[in-house]
Amino acid sequence: MLAGNSQPTAAPDVTALNIKVMERLARTWSERVAVRKDRLDLDAYYDPTIPDFPIEIIPFARDPEFQEAYDRLDDRAKLRYLAAVWIGYNERVIFIEDDIVQPVCGLLRKNRLPGVADPVVQQVIAQTQVDEQFHTLMCLEVCESARRRHGIRDYRLPPPLLAKRMREQLDAADGPYAHALIRTAYGTVSETTIHDYLRKLSTVETIQPLNRIHTELHRRDETAHGTIFLELARSIYANLDSGAKELFHDIFERALHDSVEIDVDFWASTLPYVEARDWTPFVQRLRLDLAQKRIGRDYTGLRQLLDDLGITARLDFVFE
Ligand SMILES: [Fe+2]
Ligand SMILES: [Fe+2]
Repeated sequence: MLAGNSQPTAAPDVTALNIKVMERLARTWSERVAVRKDRLDLDAYYDPTIPDFPIEIIPFARDPEFQEAYDRLDDRAKLRYLAAVWIGYNERVIFIEDDIVQPVCGLLRKNRLPGVADPVVQQVIAQTQVDEQFHTLMCLEVCESARRRHGIRDYRLPPPLLAKRMREQLDAADGPYAHALIRTAYGTVSETTIHDYLRKLSTVETIQPLNRIHTELHRRDETAHGTIFLELARSIYANLDSGAKELFHDIFERALHDSVEIDVDFWASTLPYVEARDWTPFVQRLRLDLAQKRIGRDYTGLRQLLDDLGITARLDFVFE
């Protein structure tokens, strides 16, 4: 009799915000996020004989010229070099928090784009802001710990390539609405893929337990942020007029391409900690070698969103 009595159920609108997902994330925030957990003891999980960073993740780790210079170092100098890379890595994460994600959250908290005014959505955005501020603090603390242990006071992150690329789009765009769309595109790409980037490091068994735990704490929060940004982008897009939708396609395509570009200056900034010499010819060669390569990212969630919105085929970008 079921067939006769059952009402046909309408298929859920996949282009609209899933408020139930947002309600669940808002409700569970206190129990799941890093900022509400006990502080990480920076000394309990640090073994001075273990590297801070996995050398295999460095894009020139197998380059013979680099390997020769690295192999000449004693164990202490090798550990110091990998600590410098770890500091750079975390300063890059801080850049993402401060310059990519927080500005988007601030704009959305002020309803500068449509589709995010619901009180639960606003609550989730404010929670995300708290999380990101805490991640910046966590990264500052682990960086300072590594600087102190390895006597690295002078390392400074060079201006990130992604900042330059986003700035190019902002400078070419017209008005605050387009700027908000640009920041949303870069924020969405970052927030929906960063958890995979963090997972790569949090699962490497050969690095400092402290660094793995720190990265894993961050990764757990970012898994939720990935879901949040998918819903935010879904809702914003659904509420754009057709002209703004067209603009968003162009912006998003650029953000996708920019997100896979290898930041050679960043990696090159670590080389003086292998050896104080002129690395210019090496870096020039590296630039050529890496020009056709791209950062591998997990686009599973983002790809689903773009499919739901029906815009995947309109983007000139290969998801791999
Ligand atoms: Fe974060
Ligand atoms: Fe995040």
